[in-house]
Amino acid sequence: MAEIIDGRAVADEVVQTVKRLTGELVDARAITPGLAVVIVGEDPASQVYVSSKGRKAKECGFHSVQHTLPAETSEEQLVAIVHDLNADPAIHGILVQLPLPAHIDAGRIIQTIAPEKDVDGFHYINVGKLGTGELDTAFVPCTPAGSMLLIERVRGKDLSGLSAVVVGRSNIVGKPMANLLLAANCTVTIAHSRTKDLPALARTADILVAAVGRPEMIKGDWVKPGATVIDVGINRIAAPEKGEGKSRLVGDVAFAEAEKAAGAITPVPGGVGPMTIALLMANTLVSAYRAAG
Ligand code: GUN
Repeated sequence: MAEIIDGRAVADEVVQTVKRLTGELVDARAITPGLAVVIVGEDPASQVYVSSKGRKAKECGFHSVQHTLPAETSEEQLVAIVHDLNADPAIHGILVQLPLPAHIDAGRIIQTIAPEKDVDGFHYINVGKLGTGELDTAFVPCTPAGSMLLIERVRGKDLSGLSAVVVGRSNIVGKPMANLLLAANCTVTIAHSRTKDLPALARTADILVAAVGRPEMIKGDWVKPGATVIDVGINRIAAPEKGEGKSRLVGDVAFAEAEKAAGAITPVPGGVGPMTIALLMANTLVSAYRAAG
């Protein structure tokens, strides 16, 4: 049976380090890292994510600001808020929670965020730096960065020559994940809904990353024996066995089957999820250190 990768424990270590380095920055330079999170509308999942980001920021000792805006907020109003945050020296990280309401051009909003405060790593400047391997000055998106830390825990820092298959090609996870694995000298394949014979391709992977948003799509017999399986999916499905109207969270991987073949695997919940928030804190701290010079 596979080692179950404890994302909560690793995330907690990251957060403890962030707390310590925040204390040092405050003591030495009187600079408190500041994180602003902006949410537009009332998407319940987004509200949960945003409040946990705010809570974690406070736990790290950050200056934490939340802008909660009504669904009717105009694109121009949101642009103006981002401009204000760009100019605010107390703010080192800006995160606009996605998805945004359909009448707002999310791409325009992301490109309005100052690249040096783009702790999500979604701005073209940061995407380009990741693509060209300039990782020292880039912000790397939090979910793939956290997934890499988990992979390194299991396989060590040297991933050279390993075969990696990333299932999913989103800008938030799939593409940056593939770039990070490539920068770590893996042989990387990105698979997606048009990929032919996905099970056979997945079986070639020493590192298999699932980021498709389809509950339990990746079956046990898609997993190469001993592979490291990183499940980025968070899907809420009906769970009538828990009572009427109840639901539960599952990943993109059929965990009970996959853990029989994998060498190590992340659970859902408690795997990649906590790492995303921890890496957001780490990115914000790095931004504050960069601003301190
Ligand atoms: N919505 C879901 N994941 C994310 C994320 O990583 N960043 C932002 N801004 N919105 C999201």
